[in-house]
Amino acid sequence: MQVLVFKNEAEVGKAAGMIVASEIIKKPDCILGLATGSTPIPTYQEMIRMNREGILDFSKVRSFNLDEYIGLAPDHVCSYRRFMNEQLFDHINIDKANTHVPCGIGADHEADAKAYDAAVEAAGGIDLQILGIGHDGHIGFNEPDDTFSRETHIVELTDVTRQANARFFDSPDEVPDKAVTMGIGTIMQAKRILMIATGADKADTVRAMLRGPVTPRLPASVLAFHRDVVVMLDAAAAGKLEA
Ligand code: GLP
Repeated sequence: MQVLVFKNEAEVGKAAGMIVASEIIKKPDCILGLATGSTPIPTYQEMIRMNREGILDFSKVRSFNLDEYIGLAPDHVCSYRRFMNEQLFDHINIDKANTHVPCGIGADHEADAKAYDAAVEAAGGIDLQILGIGHDGHIGFNEPDDTFSRETHIVELTDVTRQANARFFDSPDEVPDKAVTMGIGTIMQAKRILMIATGADKADTVRAMLRGPVTPRLPASVLAFHRDVVVMLDAAAAGKLEA
């Protein structure tokens, strides 16, 4: 695992944007795995800037997002589909038909989850997966558990996660208690993984992830078993690594 530390989140965003750019330049029809949350926003802004400046062309890129809240329609103000449209897709020349976010409102969640994994596989798998990390070590919405999950599935969100994400909702009660997420197996099949963590509130979790042991109690720790992971941190998130 390669761990790179930058001065602040803007610098992380620039560096992460360059990793995405290099992937697209190498393979213009690459498959990107995308994440929500505040952490990737500076990276998405870099991607938008490079597209505006004509450096980066998204016309052949396809994307699969990690997760979605159960019960939120795609146009709900807090849905991850809406987040992705507003933070990235509306500002770049990607064909929206080539962007995928798991469905949170289908009649058959199990069938939808299976179809999502099948679509990732049919696309040839994810070339570069961007990940953030939750305070409890979750990736996507894979919460601490007794075992690692393989495929896309429905999860119960922990109180820690619901509280952390309450800032996006009008009231904490509105945060859904379930989500659909790519499984750890799906994430680990990505050819390359770019994990981004910024802010002092992530320092303990980042330290635990990097120190190990690998345990489903800290889902992000599994990245130690992937052969091509870049971890980009700002100084605040890296603050406890020497301790
Ligand atoms: C959510 C998302 C994760 C994300 C995490 C951290 O729970 N499902 O994919 O990594 O939040 O979010 P933030 O970057 O806002 O701290």
